[in-house]
Amino acid sequence: MKHLLSIADTSRGELEELLDLTDNFKEVLARKVPKVPALRNKTVVLAFFEDSTRTRTSFDMAAKRLSADVVTFSSSSSSLSKGESIRDTIQTISAMGVDAMVVRHRSSGVPAQITQWTDASVVNAGDGWHQHPTQALLDAYTIRSHFGSLEGKTVAIVGDIKHSRVARSNIEAFTKLGAEVLLVAPRTLLPARVEELPVKVAQSLDSVIADIDVLSLLRIQAERQDEALFPSAREYRAGYGLTGERAKRLSSNALIMHPGPMNRGIEIDAAVADDPRSTVLEQVGNGVAVRMAVLFNVLGPGSFDPDPADPDSANPDPNPANPDSERADQ
Ligand code: CP
Repeated sequence: MKHLLSIADTSRGELEELLDLTDNFKEVLARKVPKVPALRNKTVVLAFFEDSTRTRTSFDMAAKRLSADVVTFSSSSSSLSKGESIRDTIQTISAMGVDAMVVRHRSSGVPAQITQWTDASVVNAGDGWHQHPTQALLDAYTIRSHFGSLEGKTVAIVGDIKHSRVARSNIEAFTKLGAEVLLVAPRTLLPARVEELPVKVAQSLDSVIADIDVLSLLRIQAERQDEALFPSAREYRAGYGLTGERAKRLSSNALIMHPGPMNRGIEIDAAVADDPRSTVLEQVGNGVAVRMAVLFNVLGPGSFDPDPADPDSANPDPNPANPDSERADQ
């Protein structure tokens, strides 16, 4: 694929291919030298117009593990503050010679718009309420690594679904991979036209908690709410938070997931966030390998241009069985 903008654009086969490729890169990351030359001579720009810790850092690490050159564009210290438009900003960066742009923006649709302004591959790192496809991939990968498959698993997505790009991406990825998705939220935090989505809906967490395989908690996104959608954080926790008492009713084999950043004490109690069933940090770790798979997919074999003077560069193969794939720029 040239771009990764939305899980809606990917087939089940493409999702599975990316998850299989992630397995290969997990193996690379476990090596003594956790680096391959697959994207040597490629330049990846991290263009984050909205704050991020996990996504930006893991794309940075992923690109470096693939031997790409990485440039981080910081919107707060850019000429955007002098009134330059996003279009001029993107075309300016693109003119310097860029192979891929990883874009986060607070407005839905900006990464797709950027594909019209650059020849580079564009990867959506989160746009408004719309999509966060690499989060969906790393969440699906984490579930698959525990259960072998998502087929037939019941995944409850709990919380601020209305404002969540993670929820929108995860619903599409999980259902395409065969899971049954249950949305659990007060009516005010459910998305419009929820009945058109391939999901079931419950308004009570207590009524479903004993029967789910995966509990995926979402952050209350105060920055995206312009009205009070629930009475107070305390009442939200009482109805929808994963408290210690609720965690006892969750199956011992269930996974407790959260994309981060967490509001400990609201959607998840502090002690439960560190429960042995919690995959929060495992998700973050898987994010590096998933993002290696995505960058390799958009820039890898299809567009790879080997240097005839350098035999190593002709082999972008991350296959762990291939000893050449362990060679990398140090
Ligand atoms: N999950 C996620 O997107 O986290 P960041 O905002 O820290 O990137």
